[in-house]
Amino acid sequence: MGRAKKAVLAYSGGVDTSVCIPYLLNEWGVEEVITFAADLGQGDELEPIRRKALDAGASQSLVGDLIEPFITEFAFPAIRANALYQGRYPLSTALARPLIARRLVEIARELGADAVAHGCTGKGNDQVRFDVAIGALAPDLKVLTPAREWGMSREETIAYGERCGIPSPVSKTSPYSIDLNLLGRSIEAGPLEDPDVEPPEEVFALTASVEAAPDAPQLVEIGFEAGNPVSIDGERLDPVSLIRRANALAGRHGFGRLDMIEDRVVGIKSREIYETPGLLLLIKAHQEIESLTLGADVLRAKRQLEMQWADLVYQGLWFGALKDAIDGFIERTQGAVNGSVRLKLHKGNATVVGRSSAGNSLYVPDMATYDAGDQFDHRAAEGFIYVWGLPTRLWAASQRPQP
Ligand code: ARG
Repeated sequence: MGRAKKAVLAYSGGVDTSVCIPYLLNEWGVEEVITFAADLGQGDELEPIRRKALDAGASQSLVGDLIEPFITEFAFPAIRANALYQGRYPLSTALARPLIARRLVEIARELGADAVAHGCTGKGNDQVRFDVAIGALAPDLKVLTPAREWGMSREETIAYGERCGIPSPVSKTSPYSIDLNLLGRSIEAGPLEDPDVEPPEEVFALTASVEAAPDAPQLVEIGFEAGNPVSIDGERLDPVSLIRRANALAGRHGFGRLDMIEDRVVGIKSREIYETPGLLLLIKAHQEIESLTLGADVLRAKRQLEMQWADLVYQGLWFGALKDAIDGFIERTQGAVNGSVRLKLHKGNATVVGRSSAGNSLYVPDMATYDAGDQFDHRAAEGFIYVWGLPTRLWAASQRPQP
């Protein structure tokens, strides 16, 4: 493949990605390393991170605000898809990777780089997501993955960094491995590696514990248009503000924590702790407004495709053909998904207590009611059931095993 001359490195400011800079320059003979740090709403101060990359030897250190596209192009499609990997994880980390990859490729094009690089290890999902996304968007670019290949332990990495003037982490480093963005946090490692150990309260930052959550319940109303959340408690909010508001409301009441055994792409089972309060609240509300506005057959088909969509995104196939085709199906369904859902937040729960849709409800009171206004033709049920049950009766008459 030949040596890379100029590489754009996905940069977080942490030890691993910092060490990637001198490592690429000194060990792999890359002539120039440009770093890119993405603002995904994680709340880090980016200026110190920007300077840190220059101190570590980057020729240029770029930072970019990707919050808006992160929410509108990645989080909102996930809400429309009710995307929950293995029925639980709303993909808060996974959704960020194709966006970062896309921006790395854009920068590489703008600056005439022949490679992009990332600091993922060889055990995780993120390497898969980056590599596959970059390969789809820019098959000609080299993908450099020093941390996957250098074989250094944590201590050796820190020592290597110190020799290159990269300060080792100041305080005793936390035992946890954390990924953070506006959609949530993932927490792994340390004591959490024993799947039988309850996560200590210190791992959480976005959600209250059930014990500390307010005693008084709080109602929240989410408004949807064409499947997108557009308002909270009647107030129209832009997508980013809406996610922030949903995080604050749900987090305050301790809703949105997950503790699960998850199956990684590379075949490993891992124990994952997440807190994704806003995203889980919005998916729950979205599922509910769909139950009112989509027919049973569409809901059934969509449920299957939602599972596949979540698998594809988890597995790094965001830019693939099947994901694109399923997006087409979902898009087609969402025009009718309008209305609002009321939920009660209380002590770790978000319970749906009401839903309405002015123009798209398929709930017809005259059909549903048990009262005098009932318009459903009860006699029609008889013929329907005669036909519906016919194959079962025929089979039972001749083949049903006798007890
Ligand atoms: N297991 C989650 C996922 O695959 C979280 C990964 C967190 N990534 C990280 N580099 N700490 O989406």
